[in-house]
Amino acid sequence: MSDLAIYPLTDEHKMIRDAARDFAQNEIVPVAAEHDESGEFPHKTIKKMGEMGFMGIEMPEEYGGAGMDTLAYVLALEEISRADAAHAVIMSVNNSLYCHGIYKFGTEEQKKKFITPIASGKAIGAYSLTEPQSGSDAGTMKSRATRDGDFYVLNGRKSWVTSGPVAEYMVVFMMTDPEKKQKGVSAFLVDTKNLAGYSKGKKEPKLGIRASATSEILFDNVRIPAENRLGAEGDGFKIAMTVLDAGRIGIATQALGIAEAAYEAARQYAVDREAFGQSIGAFQGTGFKIADMKTRIEAARLLIYNAAIKKENSKKTGERYSLEASMAKLFASETAAYVTDEAVQIHGGMGYSKELPVERYYRDARITRIYEGTSEIQRLVISRSELGLK
Ligand code: CAA
Repeated sequence: MSDLAIYPLTDEHKMIRDAARDFAQNEIVPVAAEHDESGEFPHKTIKKMGEMGFMGIEMPEEYGGAGMDTLAYVLALEEISRADAAHAVIMSVNNSLYCHGIYKFGTEEQKKKFITPIASGKAIGAYSLTEPQSGSDAGTMKSRATRDGDFYVLNGRKSWVTSGPVAEYMVVFMMTDPEKKQKGVSAFLVDTKNLAGYSKGKKEPKLGIRASATSEILFDNVRIPAENRLGAEGDGFKIAMTVLDAGRIGIATQALGIAEAAYEAARQYAVDREAFGQSIGAFQGTGFKIADMKTRIEAARLLIYNAAIKKENSKKTGERYSLEASMAKLFASETAAYVTDEAVQIHGGMGYSKELPVERYYRDARITRIYEGTSEIQRLVISRSELGLK
């Protein structure tokens, strides 16, 4: 993909982008189809990504991270996403939903204990908000955390937890005071290893991102130290939402990478494939599709890089970037749906075949309009912000 004139990259940005591109093309592309077919978690490549510093790019080095900025994170994730969307969501959740929230809201002790193993790539992290009856309406969770002396006792059923089956550490949101609704939610840091009452529920059989493991997580009288509460009691909903703003930039980037991979395959096919005596790209019906795909991809990149820079600035200003993150996620995920669909169309029968990765891009793109806030929720966030109404 071409560099954008509006965001000149520093040498450091180019270095991480190029390192991620080389790794993704040489190590992930060759195994992506196999993992999609088997649904097996890609432990080997994820471990290597951790060693390369991709699992906590924005975390300071003292907590095992790479100490870089949000744009560096987005550039690296874009490259991983072009190779395989399943690897991308594992990386995005570790960086955005897990490390970012603990870094922003955690105590020094919590940062040391809970960020370091994840940012250094030694373990996988997860973020657990959703429940079977509470998805978009996240404030209606039923799971309960009850204080008992120096402990909290956690009970409930969480669902759709990305990396749930493999996560050693998790940020979990539960009600401490149900009467107060959103203001009664609190956040907890859970070390899942050898934890009595903690278990993994059913693993979701998914349409796409099949190598990323997703499951229910069950809490049955799980006791955790009270010092593992993240933020104050009742701050959980705001923490969850703040963290999702960062997460949405990650999913937007995942969608962008999928779209770029599908576009590149379609562009090449439009040149190589001939029909009626010429390249199919020479027919306006195909050429104009290429033009629209390319234009929407570049527009998505601009929205994402802009949101990334707004997030980076927020480290100093404290300003929210919810609007920019939601616009980036909405547009990039809708673009991924459009581009992957057209990529299949341009490939004709071959686009429907498992012999090429285009059908995988098409399946993988679908989730980006759903998780970390559906397209409808992004429109809600954007319209509320614009209209000031609720
Ligand atoms: N940052 C900081 N604070 C925020 C915020 C944000 N982005 N969004 C809301 N808040 C605050 C509000 O200011 C408000 O605070 P006050 O009462 O003090 O004013 C409080 O939170 C409640 O906000 P709302 O009244 O707007 O809450 P709501 O119930 O109407 O919900 C919503 C708003 C946007 C619909 C929200 O519920 C939402 O984003 N839902 C989607 C949830 C989601 O994305 N789930 C995905 C889960 S993760 C996943 O997909 C799996 C995975 O592992 C990848």
